[in-house]
Amino acid sequence: MDILNKLISASNSKSSLSAFIDDYNQELYDFLLTQSYRDLKRYKEDIDRYILSHLKVIKTLDFDLESTRVFVLILLEVAERFSFLTSFQRLFKLLHKNDCELGSRIQASSSFFIGVRRISDYEKRVDQILHQLSVAYNVEDSEERVVGTLINFYAQVVHNFALQNQDRVLLLRDHILSKREDLSFYFLRHELIDKVFSIDISDHIVAFEKIKSLLDIFLERTNKYLSFTHDSFMMEEGTSYVDLLGCDCPDFFALRDIAVDEYQKIADKSVYYSLDKGVRVLTSESQLFAYLYSYGKMHYNKVTSAFKALPDNLNDKCLEIIDWGCGQALASVCFFDYIKEKGCELIVHQVTLIEPSKIALKRGSLHVKKYELAGNIRTVNKDLDSLVDNDIVSDNTHIKVHLFSNILDIEKFSLKKLISFIENNFQGENYFVCASPYINYLRTSRLDGFMSSFSRFDSFEKYLDVDHEKGEWINGWTRSIRVFKANIESSIE
Ligand SMILES: C[S@@+](CC[C@H](N)C(=O)[O-])C[C@H]1O[C@@H](n2cnc3c(N)ncnc32)[C@H](O)[C@@H]1O
Repeated sequence: MDILNKLISASNSKSSLSAFIDDYNQELYDFLLTQSYRDLKRYKEDIDRYILSHLKVIKTLDFDLESTRVFVLILLEVAERFSFLTSFQRLFKLLHKNDCELGSRIQASSSFFIGVRRISDYEKRVDQILHQLSVAYNVEDSEERVVGTLINFYAQVVHNFALQNQDRVLLLRDHILSKREDLSFYFLRHELIDKVFSIDISDHIVAFEKIKSLLDIFLERTNKYLSFTHDSFMMEEGTSYVDLLGCDCPDFFALRDIAVDEYQKIADKSVYYSLDKGVRVLTSESQLFAYLYSYGKMHYNKVTSAFKALPDNLNDKCLEIIDWGCGQALASVCFFDYIKEKGCELIVHQVTLIEPSKIALKRGSLHVKKYELAGNIRTVNKDLDSLVDNDIVSDNTHIKVHLFSNILDIEKFSLKKLISFIENNFQGENYFVCASPYINYLRTSRLDGFMSSFSRFDSFEKYLDVDHEKGEWINGWTRSIRVFKANIESSIE
């Protein structure tokens, strides 16, 4: 039985639904949020029907529990994505009533899904919607989601008012377009918006269908990676960056200084926006420089604050480091700088770098190679969902240090798959260093879900569990850090 059918069967009473949510939180997250749009679309009507017919039971759940809030937030996200109007309205009200944190994009959607009677309602709210989307775009969400929400908004306007008020719909469209020059509305320059806004709206039904189908094509296209290189080892060679690095071992700040110089020569804001807040799989050297220039210091501070929580007993031990979604391997670089500065006597037997971007991975292994301490380096050019057992070579007797720097919060891979991959491939003593920005409650729940799945091992020990929103840590940065240990045994069920 698939997860949706299991959910439906469990939803006949408060107790069975809440037990189910507890047991299957990761499967639900993966099914409803991480799965590709194309695959999820097959269940669209079933999900809407599920929400509407089980609202009565959902309302009885205990909203003081994190698992309930995450579950209902996930349903709301799906309702928003597919424009399930009634489901969205009911779930939004329910979460609002229970004081749950709702992100800016969801707030923006509520402004056009709830309480709209006349076109003047849209006209009055459009600036607020754009402002909320700009916060989502600049701080919280992927470009894909923000552009998707804006298109859903325009589709609603066309559907509801293009028949009687075509001129005012066009004025509203022009008003949105007039914001394009402002960099905080950079998402308005997306090519899909040009395509959608140029659709003839004289027949509002045809126009609505065309907008929806363009949006579908766009959402189905995303989440695909370029083909991977299966060479055994990848490293940048023979480039001017290799010359810039020179022969000595740099540290994180030397690498950042190079990136600052190089990015200032490029001085193109569009490169910065192409990073999509650093989560995009990078394809050019300009993006590598822009990333390190824009996010480097923040990531350095975040991940170093997490290393400080590791226990001292790692001294003198033989380690393997696994840097997941490593990008340019900055987390590994920061780890080496940290142990050098602390004067730890560690033997690093092997560093495994896993990353879907070829250009970033090659640079990452070049960075790591500079550290004498690094031992053997292995590169795996894949996204996390594509990993298979023989991609990884690990020794049960070594201590494994897993670096998850700014990766667990990204909703692009299945946590469930990742956890079973780790359990199958990393037996023995494992330390996990997870550092992400605090984006919102739902994203941080991924870090919690990841950590709690290892808590079933007797040896589980938690060293740090901290969430800081803007203003609660340094420099206006946010952080969610989880540092813990688990001895993974093969026999545990
Ligand atoms: C915010 S960056 C973090 C990079 C690096 N860990 C750091 O702290 O600098 C996110 C990284 O995740 C990678 N990424 C995106 N989707 C991924 C996926 N599905 N599986 C693995 N890595 C992914 C991106 O290519 C990018 O390098």
